[in-house]
Amino acid sequence: METYRNRSTANLGESGYHAFSLGEVLSMAGISQEEWMQIPMYDSPNQGSWELRKEIAKLYPGTAPENVLVTTGTSEALYLAFHLLIQKGDAVAYYHPAFQALYEIPKMLGARLLPISTSPEGIQSEDWETIQADLYVINHPHNPTGFEFAKADRPKLVQQLKTKNKPVLFDEHYRFLDRYDPDGWTGVSINDRFFGTGSFTKCFGVTGLRIGWLVADESFVKRARSFKDYLTHTVSPIAERIALGLLERRDAFLPKIRSEVFGNVTYLEKHWRELPGIDSYSDLQGGLVTWLRLKPGILSEEYADLLWKRTGVFVLPGKNFEREGFIRLGFGERQSLFQKGVDQWIQSSIYLS
Ligand SMILES: Cc1ncc(COP(=O)(O)O)c(C=O)c1O
Repeated sequence: METYRNRSTANLGESGYHAFSLGEVLSMAGISQEEWMQIPMYDSPNQGSWELRKEIAKLYPGTAPENVLVTTGTSEALYLAFHLLIQKGDAVAYYHPAFQALYEIPKMLGARLLPISTSPEGIQSEDWETIQADLYVINHPHNPTGFEFAKADRPKLVQQLKTKNKPVLFDEHYRFLDRYDPDGWTGVSINDRFFGTGSFTKCFGVTGLRIGWLVADESFVKRARSFKDYLTHTVSPIAERIALGLLERRDAFLPKIRSEVFGNVTYLEKHWRELPGIDSYSDLQGGLVTWLRLKPGILSEEYADLLWKRTGVFVLPGKNFEREGFIRLGFGERQSLFQKGVDQWIQSSIYLS
């Protein structure tokens, strides 16, 4: 994947918004040259700075800084949460296909996996109605399909999960790119043991910052914090200061990101029927990626290889998600490159005969 993505002419396989430079990020975060030079290079507090946790807590109704643990990316938050939530033999239910860590870590911990196949029509509360598990993992907006629960269906989902009386982990990594609501939706409700993991790095074009978080009740956060002591201990004070600035000032730059991303979505919606070998596209509801179905008989790796060789356009084969017959397409590329990539893809005429 590294080889392809770094040498592509249009990177449509990426799951993040294209990266800003450090200079751009400092200006977006409102950090002056003078302040930048004064950032103390100490060990940040193990739980994360109070100011950053306070800003993160504002994203989750009914939470306070005590409910937040700052982590090295959402990945670390997931790793910690799964270790504390899963006992060997536990059943873990999740949507499949999925971001790999959502089932690989439970599997490593000896969990019994209960994948729920996403349907081409989307995701809905009904999918969970008859499922009985020890832990429910809900990635929303969903990677790789770009699906969300309909607004009217969310209360029903929450109600249904409550009746199960088991912990739920909402991985809301793409929350800031909900198509209709800039702050996105959260299913986190700590009193019900509905915990959350999240970040903004993919949505804000700063994946190199490696900042994420876990939101849970205070005693759970304390246990996760102790565990984190033996993993990464703290995040860098540089990353933490930038993260704070970006969260505080997101209203100034997020609309532009959203307009570029959803502009790319609109371009695809207009042209996807002209893409050779593509059978169907489901409307993107949130996040940065979508899941395109290939025409019957086409293998995803062969398709992605051929497309890349003919045009330099990079897309991700569904096989990477253990699901044949699909490719994942990202909307985070610069608009001009995205459009050029789609145009070249159309002209490539692969799989037409
Ligand atoms: C759904 C989901 N959760 C978590 C992660 C991991 O995020 P991070 O890069 O912040 O560790 C990703 C990364 O792509 C993701 O797609």
